[in-house]
Order: sequence, then structure tokens, then C-alpha cells
Amino acid sequence: MPFDITPIDDKPAAQIKGLDLSQPLDPAVYRALVQTLSKYPVLVFHGQDLDAAAFHGFTRRFGTLQEHVLHKYRHAEFPGLSWLTNVASDGSVDEFGVRRATTWHSDGSYTAIPPTLGILHAYETPPTGGGTLFIDMGAAFDRLTPALQTRLRGLTGLHRHGAGPGGDMYDNSLSDKQKENHRDVFHPVVTQHPDSGRPILYVNETHTHKFEGINKTDSIALVNDLVAQAVQPDAIYHHQWTPGDMLIWDERSTIHRGEGDYTPTARRIMLRAIIDQISIHE
Ligand SMILES: [Fe+2]
Repeated sequence: MPFDITPIDDKPAAQIKGLDLSQPLDPAVYRALVQTLSKYPVLVFHGQDLDAAAFHGFTRRFGTLQEHVLHKYRHAEFPGLSWLTNVASDGSVDEFGVRRATTWHSDGSYTAIPPTLGILHAYETPPTGGGTLFIDMGAAFDRLTPALQTRLRGLTGLHRHGAGPGGDMYDNSLSDKQKENHRDVFHPVVTQHPDSGRPILYVNETHTHKFEGINKTDSIALVNDLVAQAVQPDAIYHHQWTPGDMLIWDERSTIHRGEGDYTPTARRIMLRAIIDQISIHE
């Protein structure tokens, strides 16, 4: 590997050392990072320093960037990037920015072909709190009983933006024009990771709201039960941010959420990229 990989305890994460992400990197490095995600679905870098242009340059080489559904947070110059911020343009607290994304989800599970990678780079972080939590949904599937695993393999989940039992924060966040995100999309409850072949529990409490053939009430109960079983405290990778951190995670095999537990006036500003489909060019 063209970098050092240090596993983080027994968590689904590893720290990557020996790379300056602001510099041009060989395609082999990008391929190796993607390969590493099969074993460690969250990659952690410290001490990086990329402005928006450099972050855009780095992230777009993994593949096409997804322009985020919340237009308000898109970067003005690079619409493929979006801000994760609790600071409004006039400097006041953006309350939605504090609450946003604090229930378990995978980004874009409400799209027909969900994205593959999420990437966050931190610029300003609260002194305490404001972490991000991750769960490996391959390991979560393995922890389920064989009987439940068998039942889930035949199920299809319905996903729609913010329609899950934990999606209330997104009420009224989309314009009427964004109809495509108000439609249900269908994903198998058990997917297979394209690189590792591992079965993945593909359910989240923010966007999954129903299963085919199961009524609404029972569906919501099943979503809540599956997420509760998945998010065992010991299995969570808890990332406490410091400025300069960069995280790359596998959207296909993880769910995550922000803790949202920090003082709202403490500034928390990050740039985010979502990679639609991985496509690394020479
Ligand atoms: Fe997210």
C-alpha cells in the first residue's frame, strides 16, 4: 500500500498516514484507498489542509460528485461540494445546520442508484461534542440471528428523503420542484458489497419508511428494531473532529449520524463531497 494503515481499536475505521491530500496523487493511491474501504469502511486522516478548490480537485478524482439535494448548502463555485455548517451567512446560528443529519442514515439512500463514498473535511470544530458516529452495516448484518437474516434476504425496502421514523428534521426542507426526492425508491434490505461480496443490512431510520408486503406500522417497527440492533454502542466508531481532519467512508456499507450535542454558538464548518459512482481515471 502507498500509505500506512493503522486500525482504530476494534472499530470499523483506520487512520491513514503518509499522504498529503492537497498534492496530486497517483491513480494507484485512489484505487488503494477504495480497496482499503472493504476492510475499514471509515478512513481517517489528520492534519490535512485543502481549500475548496483543492478539496474539489481531490474528491472529483474518485468519480462524479453528486450535487446535494439541499441547494442552500451547495458551494457557490463548486456545486458538487456542499457545506456542513451551523453558521448562517450573516454569522448567526443556523439552527437547521445544528440539527441536520443527527439521525442514522446513509447519504442518498433515497436515490435509485445510491452514492458510493462520502468525504468530509473539517475547517472549524467545536471544542467539545459535535462528533460523527459510524456503524459498519456488514458487521451489523452478521450480528443478526440466522432466522432474521433469512427473513430479511427476501425483503425490499422503500426509501424516500426524510420519510423514515427518524426523518422529521427534514420536513419542508425540499422545494416542491424536487419531486424526484419525494418518490419512493426500492432497495433490497440485504445488499452485497461490490468489492468484498459481503452481505450488508441496507436500512436506515432517516430515509427507510416501509417494506414491500408489510404494513406501515409494522414496517416502522421493523426499521426501528433493525437500527437499534445495528447501533450497538461497542460497534460505533465515534469520530471527534479537529480542524484539518478528513474522513472518507463507504456509503454502501455504513450508516452514520452527527451527534448534534455541541453548543450551537460553537462554530462547526466542514466541506462535504458525495461520490456518485467510483470511476478512477489514469
Ligand atoms: Fe450524512
